[in-house]
Amino acid sequence: MNFHFNEEEQEILDMLHDYAVKEVAPRAHEIDEEEKFPMEARNGLAEMGMMGMYFPEEYGGAGLSYLSYIAVCEELAVHCATTSVVLSAHESLCSWPIYKYGTEEQKQKYLTALASGEKLGAFGLTEPGAGTDAAMQKTVAKDEGDHWVLNGSKVFITNAQYADIFVVFAMVYRDDYKEKPYTNKDISAFIIEKGFEGFSVQGHEMKMGIRGSSTCSLYFDNCIVPKENLLGEQGKGFKIAMTTLDGGRIGIAAQAIGIAQGAINETVAYTKERVQFGKPIWKFQNTQFQLADMQAKVDAARLLVYRAAQAKQDGEPHSHLAAMAKLVASETASDVARRCVQLVGGNGYSREYPFERHMRDAKITEIYEGTSEVQRMVIAGWLGATK
Ligand code: CAA
Repeated sequence: MNFHFNEEEQEILDMLHDYAVKEVAPRAHEIDEEEKFPMEARNGLAEMGMMGMYFPEEYGGAGLSYLSYIAVCEELAVHCATTSVVLSAHESLCSWPIYKYGTEEQKQKYLTALASGEKLGAFGLTEPGAGTDAAMQKTVAKDEGDHWVLNGSKVFITNAQYADIFVVFAMVYRDDYKEKPYTNKDISAFIIEKGFEGFSVQGHEMKMGIRGSSTCSLYFDNCIVPKENLLGEQGKGFKIAMTTLDGGRIGIAAQAIGIAQGAINETVAYTKERVQFGKPIWKFQNTQFQLADMQAKVDAARLLVYRAAQAKQDGEPHSHLAAMAKLVASETASDVARRCVQLVGGNGYSREYPFERHMRDAKITEIYEGTSEVQRMVIAGWLGATK
């Protein structure tokens, strides 16, 4: 496989690197410490055309490759994991399903505003009783002739407080649901606007890591949704959610390797300065061997991430590839970030330094958009079906 960025993409990645070093990295500590949403970066990325990197220009996107978008998720996470997830929840989880399943009118109305960065997107699948078991949706959408009425709630929704447009999943109401219980074939997807009657965003999760990202609950209290806001075919919502997450997981895997790379870079720099027993601790073989092992593992994980991204870009099956990439990248990120804290010692544990933040940020990559156990289920499902 040849992971290739053309000249224009490389220029954009170089520009993004400079931007991240100058504008994203210096704010990462404050974003974490004060649970501050990275509004400057959200706006800066929009100005640079990065809120819709891989969508066609006719829909407000930049028309670049999916692989270059994944490289951007990674680069942002090197400096600030919060900023990276704001972008990936917006692009992978909200814009992509509208691009893939939306009508021309929906694309003109919603995707154009999302891809240009004018509006921010979010994705509402998880409920209090439907986390890993995503098919157990309790939110219900009732067909009322000329509109839908939604009732229910969603939890742990990334970008929620600042989002304008939400892709939300619900069971379409049937009179006979008591005799014939709902299944995943009853789930449909809907496009919800922030201002819809009966819709509200509430609460704010206080989190261990990615503390600047907005994570809230969504409430639908007789929420009126126009008929034309059904996304994709009725009853195909579960497949829409799963295929969306196949892409989202590649973005989170990229975030994970970015976090790990950031931890390694900063640990190398720190150990070159820190003197103990008369020499920089970098000079000790334990330091070098540990960091060498970590870098090799991060590069191995990166290859899995780029392989999954390339497969998605080429329109090839990639559920299992995305699951492998996320499983390995997220577990590598947690391991690397923890080992970097240990190498740095007391200052690794101090909130004045970035090392412990990387450790906290890394953990969520093993949980959201499908836990490591979910990734194993997906990989095992593929293994059982093909080997
Ligand atoms: N692509 C297309 N179709 C798929 C699919 C995929 N990737 N995965 C499953 N399907 C289809 C199956 O083919 C099957 O179709 P048929 O019924 O027609 O045969 C149907 O969906 C049901 O499949 P399963 O029986 O495998 O489904 P399941 O109920 O056993 O669930 C699961 C499987 C993998 C556990 C799934 O529920 C899952 O991924 N759970 C985790 C959900 C998740 O990742 N949530 C994160 C939410 S977003 C977030 O984290 C927050 C944020 O904002 C960042």
